Amino acid sequence: MDGFDQAKKEISELSNELRRHQYRYYVEAKPEISDLQYDRMIDRLIDLESRFPELKLPDSPSQRVGSDLGSSFPEVVHSVPVLSLDKAYTTESILQWIERLGKRGEQRLSFVVEEKMDGVSLVLYYEHGLLVRAVTRGNGSVGNDVTANAKTITSIPLRLTQPLDIAVRGEVFLTKDDFERLNLTMEVPYANPRNLAAGSIRRIKSSETARIPLRMYVYDAYISGNGENAENHVEVLKLLDNLGFLVNPRLAVFAENALRAQEMANKLHIPDVVSGDFGKLVEYIGSMDERRSSLPYEIDGLVVKVNELGVRDFLGYTGHHPRWALAYKFDAPEAQTVVTDIDVQVGRTGRITPVARVVKVRVGNSMVSNVTLHNEDYINMLELAIGDTVAIAKRGDVIPAVERVVEKNEDENSTWLMPEYCPSCHTRLCRVGAHTFCPNSADCPDQIMGRVIFFVGRNQMDIEGFGPETVSFLMQRNMINDIPDIYTVDYQSLVGEVGFGEKKAYSLMKAVEKSKDQPFSTVMVSLGIPDFGKKAVDLLIAAGITSMEQLETLVDSDNKRPLLDIKGFGQKTVDSLFSYLKDEQLRNRIARLRDLGLNFSQESTANDNRVPQTFSGQTWCVTGSFERYQPRSLALKEIEARGGRTTGSVTRKTTHLLAGSGAGSKLQQAIAFGTTIVSEEKFIAMLEKE
Ligand code: IVH
Repeated sequence: MDGFDQAKKEISELSNELRRHQYRYYVEAKPEISDLQYDRMIDRLIDLESRFPELKLPDSPSQRVGSDLGSSFPEVVHSVPVLSLDKAYTTESILQWIERLGKRGEQRLSFVVEEKMDGVSLVLYYEHGLLVRAVTRGNGSVGNDVTANAKTITSIPLRLTQPLDIAVRGEVFLTKDDFERLNLTMEVPYANPRNLAAGSIRRIKSSETARIPLRMYVYDAYISGNGENAENHVEVLKLLDNLGFLVNPRLAVFAENALRAQEMANKLHIPDVVSGDFGKLVEYIGSMDERRSSLPYEIDGLVVKVNELGVRDFLGYTGHHPRWALAYKFDAPEAQTVVTDIDVQVGRTGRITPVARVVKVRVGNSMVSNVTLHNEDYINMLELAIGDTVAIAKRGDVIPAVERVVEKNEDENSTWLMPEYCPSCHTRLCRVGAHTFCPNSADCPDQIMGRVIFFVGRNQMDIEGFGPETVSFLMQRNMINDIPDIYTVDYQSLVGEVGFGEKKAYSLMKAVEKSKDQPFSTVMVSLGIPDFGKKAVDLLIAAGITSMEQLETLVDSDNKRPLLDIKGFGQKTVDSLFSYLKDEQLRNRIARLRDLGLNFSQESTANDNRVPQTFSGQTWCVTGSFERYQPRSLALKEIEARGGRTTGSVTRKTTHLLAGSGAGSKLQQAIAFGTTIVSEEKFIAMLEKE
C-alpha cells in the first residue's frame, strides 16, 4: 500500500472513530475516552487531511473545530418555507384556536406543545444524508449560508444515520450558564444569550464559532420523496432523534381525551412526557411559565402545534405563518409612555372614539404614538387624565391598548371628560349603550368622509387611486357631500391643481366608471350598514334575496320573516338592518346610486354553476406576476369558480402552481415537491379549452 492508500484508510478509520466519540460526548453526554485522547485523534486527522486535501471527507469530524480562513455568508434562497408563528398572549385564545380548528377539521386532533427556544433559527439541508448547507432564516425566503460555522456545532450531525434528502429546522442556542461565563470574557458584553448565539453563528472565522458551546434543538423536517411516511409530528420528532439530531425532551402532548394523548406521547420513548386532555393544557402552560426561570436556557414562550400532518396540509399557511401552529408568549409586549393629549375621532357611523396621543414608544416590534381608548366608560375605569404615565400593551398582537395608569400627572389634571359637542360639526353628542354618537349623519363632515373612504376602499368598491387624500381633496373643494357625488364629479376640471395631473384625472375617471360593474353584493357591503359585511351579504344572496328592491319591499311591508329564517341572522341583526333601511337618507343615497347605473340586483349564487368544475379536487397556489391577471386575485377567482381550492403556499398537497414572471421560492418548492407547474399562457389555454 502506498502513502496515499494508507492515508485514505487511516482517515476513514479515524473519522468513524471520532464520529462515534463525538456522538457519545455531545449528544449522549457519555464520553468513552479522555479529552486528551480525543484531541490527539483530531490533531492526527487534521494533519492527514492537510497533507491529502483530496481525501478530506465531506462530513469529516475535523470540521467541528472550524477554520481560521475567513468566509462570507452568501445569500441562499430557501427551498422550504421558513415562516414565522402567529402569537397569542392568553390561554383563552389558545383554547379558542383549538376549538376553531376542531370545527374545521373532521379528524380528531391532538397537539404537541414545545418550548419556544429563544435562540437563532437555522435550516439544515441534507442530501443523501450529508449536511450540505446550513442557512439562517433571513427574511423567510432568503437567508445566509453559514455552513462552515454550523459544522462546528457538535449537536448538528454532519452525516445522518439514513441517506435522506431532508431539510431540518431548529433553534441554535446557548445555555444561561455558558452565556454568563463567556460574557465575562467579552470586550463588549452581550445583552442576552440569544444575541451572543446570533453573533457566534456569524463569525467570519469558523474556528471562533467552534469556541462557543452552541447547541441546536430541532423541531421540524421537510422530507422529499416518500421514503419516510410520518403521519404526525410526534413521529417526525422520533425520526429526527433516530437520525442523530438533538430533540428537546421537554415537550407535552394534548388531545380531546387523556388516553389518546398518552398513546401519542408513548411513541416518543422519552421519559416523563406530559400528556392530558385540553383542560390539562392550560395547567401545563401555567406550570411552564413558573418553571421558566429554572430552565438551563431561555425560552420566551411555548409553541402549540397540530400533531396530525394531514390536518396541517389541509390547514395550510398564510403568507406569514402556518395555520396549524400558535406561539404562546409568556410576556405580552408592554411599554410605558406619557399621554400628551386625548382627541376624539368621529367614525363613519357617527361613533365617537377617544384616542390617546402618547410620546412615541416601541411596543414589541412596532412604534406606537396613538392608542385607542374605546369609550367614555373605559377612560373612567382607568381614571385617565392628560399627562399621566401609562402602561400600554399589545395582547394577541392586535391594536395596542392602555392597560393601566402607572403614575398620575403632576399638574393635577383630572380625569378626562367626553366633549358635549361633535368636534367635526358641533352637534350635541348623545349616548347609546356604552358608546357616544354624533347624530348628524347627513351633514357631519367627518362622517361623510369616513363613509366615502369606506365605500371606495380596497375591500369594498375597490376604486383604484381613490385614497383618503383624494376624498379629503374633493371634500375641501365641496365637490363631494355624499357617496353618489363621486360619480358626478368632473375630474377633468381639476387638472392643474396641486397633485392633480392629467394622468391622475384620467385614471380616476376610468376607475370610478369601472366600479359601476361591481356586483350588487359588493355595492351592498360598500354602503357600510353596520353588521352587514361580506359574510352577511353572502348569506342574504344565498337565501335568494338578490336585489335591493326585494329588501326594500320587505322593509316597507315590515316583513322580517324571510330574513329571520336565514341561518346566522338573529333578531338583533334584522331589526338593525330594518331601521337602517327605513332611514330616508340611506334610501335617497341608494336611489341616486341606482340612477347612476350601479348594480342593485344580481343572479342568485345558487344557479351560478354554469362554469364547468374542471379544477375540482385540485389545490392551486399562485405566485409571481401576470399580464392578464392583475391583481393576482383574478386568477384565484378563476380557479375557485372552477371548483379548485387555493392556498397561499406550496405544500405536498398542492397539485398545481400557477407561476408568473418573477416566481421565486414557491417555484423552487413546487419543483422539489413535483407539483404541476403552469405558466400564464398554459393557464389561459386551459380556461379556453372549456
Ligand atoms: S415552529 C413553521 N417550534 O420561533 C414552523 N419555532 O416566532 C415555525 N422557535 O422563527 C416554527 N422554538 O425560530 C417552532 N419549538 C419551536 C420553536 C420555534 C423557537 C422560533 C423559530 C421561529 C420563531 C417564530
